[in-house]
Amino acid sequence: MSIHNDIKRNTVPKIAAMKGGIPIVSLTAYNAYMAALVDPYADFILVGDSLGMVAHGMESTTPVSLDLMIAHGRAVVAGTSKALIIVDMPFGSYEESPEAAFRNAARLLKETGCGAVKLEGGMRCAETIRFLVDRGIPVMGHIGLTPQSTHVMGGFKTQGRDRDTWSAHEADARAVEEAGAFAVVLEGMVEELAAKLTQMIAIPTIGIGASPVCDGQILVLEDMLGITQGAPKFVKRFAEIGSQIDKAVAGYAKAVKDRTFPTADQTYR
Ligand code: KIV
Repeated sequence: MSIHNDIKRNTVPKIAAMKGGIPIVSLTAYNAYMAALVDPYADFILVGDSLGMVAHGMESTTPVSLDLMIAHGRAVVAGTSKALIIVDMPFGSYEESPEAAFRNAARLLKETGCGAVKLEGGMRCAETIRFLVDRGIPVMGHIGLTPQSTHVMGGFKTQGRDRDTWSAHEADARAVEEAGAFAVVLEGMVEELAAKLTQMIAIPTIGIGASPVCDGQILVLEDMLGITQGAPKFVKRFAEIGSQIDKAVAGYAKAVKDRTFPTADQTYR
């Protein structure tokens, strides 16, 4: 029994059922207002650990803490009403043991109100994914280029250029699916490999730098809005908001200095 009976949020089973159908639309968001702008168009919104770089100026996702993910996750849930909200498990919050992963994933769900978590890794995370799913925590997988492991992988390199590596990616995709993940992000891989994995598994694949063959797409919002510097080459900028902000701030600064600062009214609200 709940008084919250009018919630129209998208659900994990609905995302899973979109396999092979109309492509799944998703973007990242880290704060309430940006999330509210994305909400009408997105099937799900990811509170990605890329927020470490984009919102906090970190050099990588490695220093991102669980508490930071909780703070941003809560803001995104508060700013939205339609999209499923998924929050990334940051580096160090799930690798140690399935039990530790459960405790941290449970905090994400309880303290943000999100509907699912995402974690990086294929075969090596299968046991943890199964442990979480069996205990009521929906999990999205993330394979291919996994930014939390770039120290091991030797940087941000497109995966699957060498066909000899494909069997490892196939094993990862199968492991994530069999462990009970409801969808999986395929990051930074050649189109032929993304197509093969998308055909091979029964859960939706969400591509980022993995071509349009996937069941859906995700981008970092600030990259596609043209706000961030040095976004990956595959990102199409759908706007140039960075230069619009620059123009607006310059105009404001000039108006303040020139004492031409316009006030429409003297009352507050
Ligand atoms: O952290 C992130 O933003 C991600 C992506 C898949 C966009 O994991």
